[in-house]
Amino acid sequence: MSDTVRFGVSLGLDLLDQFDTLINKMGYDNRSEAVRDLIRQKLTEEQWQAPDRQTFAAVMLVYNHHKMSLPSRLTELQHDSLAKIIGSFHVHIDRHSCLEIIVMRGKGKDLRALGERMISLKGVKYGKLNLGTSTEDIH
Ligand code: NI
Repeated sequence: MSDTVRFGVSLGLDLLDQFDTLINKMGYDNRSEAVRDLIRQKLTEEQWQAPDRQTFAAVMLVYNHHKMSLPSRLTELQHDSLAKIIGSFHVHIDRHSCLEIIVMRGKGKDLRALGERMISLKGVKYGKLNLGTSTEDIH
């Protein structure tokens, strides 16, 4: 575990009030953990700017399974991609809708390309690409 350092931050009272309201709503017990998470998030985003770096991502899709060609199209895209699919999770959330979470590993640019391609398929009602990182990269 790395050494812990304390540092002071100056900011306006209004901004601090808004920050406290937000982190309270999110369930944080204290400002330190909220600030640490914000810093980790920015560092992860920064790492994703290096497109050749090996990393992780999870894409969440909600689609109507009556759109018959969509599931096979999703499978085809995953087989054809340079990204490695680590696993996926499928839930039938109601009579018409499926929710799928696909976890993948590979170069940032390949993960982004595959995620965006799946999200843009016709029939996908909601899609979100979550960029991840290894805990060894972000302490
Ligand atoms: Ni389903």
